[in-house]
Parts: sequence; structure tokens; C-alpha cells
Amino acid sequence: MPADRDGVLIVGSINADVTAYSSRLPEPGETFAGEAFELGLGGKGANQAVAVARAGAAAHMVGCVGDDAFGTLVTTGLGEHGVGLTHVRRLADAHTGIAHIRVAGGENDIVIVSGANAALDDGQLDAAFSALGDRVAVLLTQLETPLETTLGAVRRAHAAGITVILDPAPARELPDEIWPLVDIIKPNETEAALLTGIAVDSAESAARAGRWFLERGARAAIVTMAGAGSVLVTAEGASEHPPLRVDAVDTTAAGDAYAGHLAASIAAGLSLVAAVQRATAAGAVTVTRRGASASIASAAEVDELLAR
Ligand code: RIB
Repeated sequence: MPADRDGVLIVGSINADVTAYSSRLPEPGETFAGEAFELGLGGKGANQAVAVARAGAAAHMVGCVGDDAFGTLVTTGLGEHGVGLTHVRRLADAHTGIAHIRVAGGENDIVIVSGANAALDDGQLDAAFSALGDRVAVLLTQLETPLETTLGAVRRAHAAGITVILDPAPARELPDEIWPLVDIIKPNETEAALLTGIAVDSAESAARAGRWFLERGARAAIVTMAGAGSVLVTAEGASEHPPLRVDAVDTTAAGDAYAGHLAASIAAGLSLVAAVQRATAAGAVTVTRRGASASIASAAEVDELLAR
């Protein structure tokens, strides 16, 4: 990575998260009274952009929102976190992406309706890469926007010498051509299992899944396993990274906090091991609070947890 580059380009989704908190989830067909409601900035791309900014790196977002009240809500939220919005397009003919989230017992489930996120296109990628392609150090992208644009972003970044980090969430099958273009893939155990066909239920199986990505051309794999920590696999071998114990209130965006802090750390020139340690701490702080982008850990909180 050239020394004069810094910051992270985030190509991905921007959602309004509509979240209901309850003591348990309703049975199918049941109506059940919840305890609290929140409306806020979410979307895996936007959360990761906020995490990059909270980690102290320059965050440049590429995405789409609708010309509606939720569009104003999410762009205001991104702007308040200092995320660059030059390459966020506002569309008159689509609604802002929506995530309908239920949180019960510290766990969540999510239904997304992609809306404007589905309109992210090559023209936007061209504009963003021509303005920022020789300045940013890292591309961070996910799978909540059209696969063709994910591939387009990864191809452009690889060609420009930008470190490519792919968070394959939500999981879906990917073409083999993507792996040699990916520097770091960061699946959780479910995503790793779907992509590799290897059931991930231990550090040993996580390492095997990690090696599957390297055999296809990726440079490094980090398989996260929620409460069981993560396994980093590189050409040098596999290393286990234990979890940091905290009281989980809401796991929403924990993976996004992890990905954003990882990307910011790599952009700052940290080693992969040091970046994984900071990302692990960021995920741990994030689950102690409610919400998506609103819950994401800052660099100071990561420092504090790691010092304990
Ligand atoms: O990763 C959490 C995010 O997934 C939520 O913010 C929601 O918008 C969905 O995209």
C-alpha cells in the first residue's frame, strides 16, 4: 500500500432501521407487545462507514438513498459522524432502504427492503474511484447492494492498488473470479459455512474455512464466531483470537463495528493481528448498547477495553 494513501472507501447499503425491542419474539401469527422502539441510521455499508469514522479514519461513502424523510434521516446521521457524502446519490424514484429489526434476549433478526440501495451503479463507482482512487488505502464492501457493483468496486480497487476488504454479509454465493481480488475476507461462521460448504463450529473448522478462501486466491481470511472469538488465516498459518467478555444487550451492527475498525486499522498501517484485536474490542463494546450505527464503539472505547 503506498504510504501517501489513507482513509477508507465504503461501497454499500444505507438503511433506515425500524427496531422493536421485546422480551421474546412473537410466534407466527401472534401479536405481541414490545417494550421499546427506535428509528435510526443503519445498513451494513452505512454502519461500517460510521465505524471507520469512529475509529478515527477518513470515511468516504458510496451509496444511494431515496428522496424521502428516511433519506434525510440517514444522510443527516452519516454527516453527523463525519462520513463523506459526495458519492451518495439521492433518488427521486425509489424509497430509502429499510431494515425491519426485532431484538429479543440480546439477539436480533432483520428483514431488509433494499429500495434505493438496488440502484447503486457503475457510474457512481466511476465517479468515486476517479475522485478518490489514488487517495484511499482501503475499500470496504459488503453484499447488501447489487452483486455487479460489488464486483465492479472490487475490480476497480484491486486495479488501483487499494486493499480490498470484503464482508460477505448477508451471505450469498459468489463467483470464483472474486477471490484473487480480495485481500481480506471477513465472514462470520454462518457466512463462511455458506460460502465454503464447511460447517464452522470450532476454531479448527474456522481455520479450514479460512484456508478455503486462501486456496482460491484471497490473501487473508478472518472467520468471526460471535461469543467464541475469531480465527485469522494467512499464508503464514492460522491464529485464534479470543473474545472479550461483555454483557450483550443488542448484537445489531457488532459485525459492522468489527469490519469498520478493521478497515480503519489497516488503513492506518497496523498489522493484521493488531487490526483484529482492535476490531474484536470494537465489536464487544458495540453489543453493550442498543441500536446499529448509534451503538458503534469509538477509538477511545477500544483503547480503554484493550487496556483493561
Ligand atoms: O448489520 C446490521 C444492519 O443490517 C442493520 O443496520 C440493518 O440495516 C441491516 O442492513
